[in-house]
Amino acid sequence: MGGWAERVRCQISSPIVTNMPTTGSDAGAIVVLVSGYGSNLQALIDASADPAYGVRIAAVGADRDDIEGLDRARRAGIPTFVCRVADFETRSRWDAALASQVAAYRPELVVLAGFMKLTGEAFLRQFGGRTVNTHPALSPSFPGVHGPREALDYGVKVTGCTLFVVDAGIDTGPIVAQRAVEVRDDDSVETLHERIKTAERQMLVDYVGRMVRNGFSVTERKVTIS
Ligand code: GRF
Repeated sequence: MGGWAERVRCQISSPIVTNMPTTGSDAGAIVVLVSGYGSNLQALIDASADPAYGVRIAAVGADRDDIEGLDRARRAGIPTFVCRVADFETRSRWDAALASQVAAYRPELVVLAGFMKLTGEAFLRQFGGRTVNTHPALSPSFPGVHGPREALDYGVKVTGCTLFVVDAGIDTGPIVAQRAVEVRDDDSVETLHERIKTAERQMLVDYVGRMVRNGFSVTERKVTIS
């Protein structure tokens, strides 16, 4: 893949773009952060078994213990770490610790895959512009943790999922990709979310691979994969 110097980094709420650091990361390495079931993580694990995919999951981190996401990583022989907010005096110390745990694995890209915490200033200083997250709605609609429920309650006929570059807001970052999912008359929150997750996994695998293999740039709100 090309050097990070060829890519640019989005400064939060600023049109200024700067060069991505060229040191401190290993080619093809990603760290995935999870909080739960980890089906998106599993899709990345499965895809990265093929060397042609070009992505190596260097570690999986979580903000809690005893979750299926961590078990999935262990079964695949991937190093894991847990960084719990409750173990730190302040949220910002937790955030700085999370950043240094992630940095230890020298990722080119950090993937939040069902990670239910907002990353803070220290994390974004180090990984802003190269951290992506998935959201189970079509941004800018229905930000936050109840995307499928709010889409259903609102009565939209089409919803979907969004892959975006993380910034300081809640699901507000520059959009990498989106997939539309039709809402059916008989959908429950669960059936709708399951169909969204099917689309989400495919989108995530497709775009994480492309971003890592080809590099990408973020200019203001526009994400371009090289
Ligand atoms: C995904 O829909 C993600 O967008 C949302 O939570 C879900 C996580 O699913 N934040 P999983 O843990 O990857 O199965």
